[in-house]
Amino acid sequence: MRKTAIILVSLIALVAACNKKPVQQQEAPDIYEPSELALLMRKMEFENQLLRKQILEGADSFTFPSAYKNLTSSKPTTPGTVNQTFKEHSAAYALVMEQLQSGDSSMTYRFNKGVDACIDCHHSFCGGPIPRIEKLRITSSENQN
Ligand code: HEC
Repeated sequence: MRKTAIILVSLIALVAACNKKPVQQQEAPDIYEPSELALLMRKMEFENQLLRKQILEGADSFTFPSAYKNLTSSKPTTPGTVNQTFKEHSAAYALVMEQLQSGDSSMTYRFNKGVDACIDCHHSFCGGPIPRIEKLRITSSENQN
């Protein structure tokens, strides 16, 4: 009899413990905290949106946002993202940015090459934002500055 009671009590405790979990999850609202790297990406996206606007408004020179220089020192959402391949991609990206800063080709061409460079790394690391990044591209109907 006693044994059954003990089993019963522990069963109830177990069920109660299991039931607690979803309640706790509901209590703690699921607020997505962006990582340092994600915030840096948003900054790069924003600064490129401004740059895009300047080009469309006829600017005669431009400077790519320099935030990319911190890519490897920013904490990513998923630990391990900043691996050797990521480091190679960011070095390649930084080089492309510097090369595109000036040159004989049109600003639209150089800006769009920069967009390609964003997407290049995203093919390897984080495909989700690619459609969002594509929106930066200046189409031929928009400008040939
Ligand atoms: C060297 C690789 C690399 C390059 C270059 C790169 N990205 Fe990213 N990007 C990432 C990774 C990895 C993440 C995921 C970051 C995380 O979740 O911590 C990311 C995330 C993002 C996000 C989503 C941020 C969010 O809200 O969670 C956007 C938008 C983005 N990148 C835009 C860009 C743009 C625009 C460029 C070019 C100006 C660019 N990225 C260049 C690797 C790169």
